[in-house]
Amino acid sequence: MEQRFIASNAQPQQDAYQTKWQAPSNIALVKYWGKTPPQLPKNASLSFTLSDAQTQTEVRFSPLGAPTKKVTFSILFEGEEKPSFRPKLQAFFDHIIAYQPFLLHYDVAISSHNTFPHSSGIASSASSMAALAACLVDLESQLSPMDEKRKLEKISFLARLGSGSACRSVQGPTMAWGTHPSVVASSDLMAVPVNDIHAIFATYCDTILLVDKGQKQVSSTLGHKLMHNHPYAAQRFAQANSQLAALLPVLKDGNLDAFITIVEKEALDLHAMMMTSDPYFILMQPNTLHIINAVWQFRSETKIPLCFTLDAGANVHLLYPSNVSESVKAFIGSDLLQFCQNRQCVHDAVGTGIKKC
Ligand code: DP6
Repeated sequence: MEQRFIASNAQPQQDAYQTKWQAPSNIALVKYWGKTPPQLPKNASLSFTLSDAQTQTEVRFSPLGAPTKKVTFSILFEGEEKPSFRPKLQAFFDHIIAYQPFLLHYDVAISSHNTFPHSSGIASSASSMAALAACLVDLESQLSPMDEKRKLEKISFLARLGSGSACRSVQGPTMAWGTHPSVVASSDLMAVPVNDIHAIFATYCDTILLVDKGQKQVSSTLGHKLMHNHPYAAQRFAQANSQLAALLPVLKDGNLDAFITIVEKEALDLHAMMMTSDPYFILMQPNTLHIINAVWQFRSETKIPLCFTLDAGANVHLLYPSNVSESVKAFIGSDLLQFCQNRQCVHDAVGTGIKKC
């Protein structure tokens, strides 16, 4: 157990407390894929925090007469009760109770919604776990004062226990998670901001092309498990760490050609892991490949620094600086939307992390 995250002096109070926080999604440039309990990454990862795809979560903490054995909670998502969300939340609370034992003295009523369309197929576990962790640490800081740095660290620490990538959504614009010799203060327990980033990256846009809005074919929880006993696991973890080391000077100097090479390679390496696992999966769809080929052709013809990355699914994230957004958006409309379900995409951009609402 990580001693320094235990809330030692926070005592429950008699009064109810209500708070509301929002947290964004994030897009990994170097991917986290493979973990060991308790939610510790097998390699370091690095992401851009986004700004528009947000989860807003309100929590009302009402004191109970006597403490319970497990956290008492309810969950409303977009105004409706969600029994299907309970097991993941229950597991999360079971996990974090060691770090926030005062929660056993409260009824925790969670109400949450996303600012992006629910059916868009954009994963929301990072934004939702980061927003919930922010509410929980807000209560803790009412019970026992904490400085800002410690609060952010604890939010990231708790968010990680809900969903690994969530720990990177707490701050921005560039976050690293996982111990890495080239990232100052890096840790497996929480994400840390990466400083010394070229100004061009603060202008980056992420347009998510919705190739498949359906249920994910492979949940990330199962996907991470496929890395146990994977024949290439050790090479993949070492390679991710060396790609992260290579990306740091590129982010500092604003070398966009090198940025593109590393980011696209990481996306394809992630998918290569799924294609070579047992059981094996192809998570790309024909339209994913049409988009990738069209991006490569567009880039070679125009020299515009547009690149793609992928999560564990068929949707494509297009990354580009805002000074080329007019040409890129015209290209998306004319050549790429035909490959998206209902011609849908979501425009997002690099952002700064959680915010109190
Ligand atoms: C492919 O954070 O969703 O998006 O820790 O099991 O909740 P859990 O997994 P999750 O995995 C994200 C995987 C990824 C790569 C990344 O974001 O780094």
